[in-house]
Amino acid sequence: MSDAYILGIESSCDETGAAVVRSGEQMVSNVVFSQIATHQPYGGVVPELASREHLRAIVPVVRKALADAGQTYQSIDAIAVTQGPGLAGALLVGISYAKALAFALDKPLIAVNHLEGHIHAVLLEERQKGNHEVAFPVLALVVSGGHTHLYLAEEKGEGWSYQNIGHTRDDAAGEAFDKVAKLLALGYPGGPVVDRLSAHGDPTAVKFPPSQLKHRDRKDRGKPEDDRPRFDFSYSGIKTAVLRYVETHNMQPGIEARKKALSEITKPSWQDYLAHCDKATLDLVASFQRTMVEDLVAKTLAATREYEVATLFVTGGVAANNELRQRFERDAAMEGLPVFFPSRPLSTDNAAMIAAAAYPKFLAQEFAPADFSAEAGLALSAR
Ligand code: KG4
Ligand code: ZN
Repeated sequence: MSDAYILGIESSCDETGAAVVRSGEQMVSNVVFSQIATHQPYGGVVPELASREHLRAIVPVVRKALADAGQTYQSIDAIAVTQGPGLAGALLVGISYAKALAFALDKPLIAVNHLEGHIHAVLLEERQKGNHEVAFPVLALVVSGGHTHLYLAEEKGEGWSYQNIGHTRDDAAGEAFDKVAKLLALGYPGGPVVDRLSAHGDPTAVKFPPSQLKHRDRKDRGKPEDDRPRFDFSYSGIKTAVLRYVETHNMQPGIEARKKALSEITKPSWQDYLAHCDKATLDLVASFQRTMVEDLVAKTLAATREYEVATLFVTGGVAANNELRQRFERDAAMEGLPVFFPSRPLSTDNAAMIAAAAYPKFLAQEFAPADFSAEAGLALSAR
C-alpha cells in the first residue's frame, strides 16, 4: 500500500487544530491555534466563545496545515475529525467543516474519538522515532482537563480495541489543577503554572488526606461483573481541602493582592506569578501537586500489576507535568516497566493525534456515515 496522507481536524475544546500525518507514522505538519487568551479572563473555557473562536480559526488553520505539509486539498487521501468527547458546539464546528470538505473533494471522512487520539499521539511519536514494536498488553492513562481514564489497549487485526478499567468519579486531574490555580489566582490554564511554581515550594509542607472511594461507581452498575478490580480516581476532595486550607490560614488577602497585581500585566509569565507568591502559597501549590502525582502514579502502577501489562502510556495535557513524568519514569523503571509519553506539544490537544488514530480506520475503510454528528459524551470502547 502506498503512503496515505490524512488531514486531521480537532476542535473538541479550546484548541483549533489541523495536521497532516503520513501513514500514521510521520507528522508532516501540526498547527494548533490556542484560545487561551479568549478564555483567560473567565478562568475557564466558555463553551459559546470556544465555538465562535473555532469558526474563526478553522479555515486558516487547515490552510496552514496543508501548506506546511506541502499538500493541497486535492492531494490528501482522507479527512479525519474528532467526533467526541468534548464540547458539543465546539465539536460541531470541526465536524461541519470536515464534512463539507469531504463532500466537496469527494474524499473519505473518518470519525475519531478524542481519547483514542491521545493514545495514538504516543504511538505516532514512537513510530516516528523508528520504534514499531510495542509490547502488549498496553495500559494507557489519559489524563487531561476533561479525563482521567485508564484503558487497556490492544491491536486487533487492522484496528484497536480499548477496555476501560478506571476513571475519575468527579473532577479530572487537569480540572483539579485548573480549579486550584483559579482559587489561588494563578491564571488559566493552571497546570503549566502550578508545574513551574511547585519546584519552588516544599511538597511535604501540607498533608492532604488520600482520596477515598468506598463504593462501586453507580455508572458501572448493571454492567457485566468483571471480577478484576477497577482503579477509579477522585479529585474533588483535594480541591475542597485546598479551599479549606486557604480559609483557615487566612490566605485570601494575599490572593486578592496577587489578582490585582497580575491583572496589570498582559500575558503574565510563570515568573510573574512566582514573583507574587509567598512561601506559604508555594508550599501549598507544591504539596497539592505532590499529592496529585502520587495518587495518579500509585493507582496507575497498581493497575499495571493487576492487569499484568507490558507497556505503559501516559498521555493527555497533564502528561506534560514534569513531576508526573519523573515519578512515572522512576517508579516504572523500578518495576522494569517501559513507560512512554508524548512530547509536550503532542501531550495537549492537537490534530496530529487525530490523523494518526484515523490511519488504522483508513486501512480498514471504516468511514463515517453521512449522518454522523458530534457526541459530547462519546465513550471509548471495545470494537
Ligand atoms: O489534553 P488537553 O490539552 O485538553 C483536554 O482534553 O482536556 O489538557 C488540558 C489540561 C488542562 O487542565 C491543563 O491545566 C493541563 O492539561 N496541563 C497540565 C500541564 N500542562 C497542561 N497540568 C499539569 N502540569 C502541566 N505541565
Ligand atoms: Zn484532550
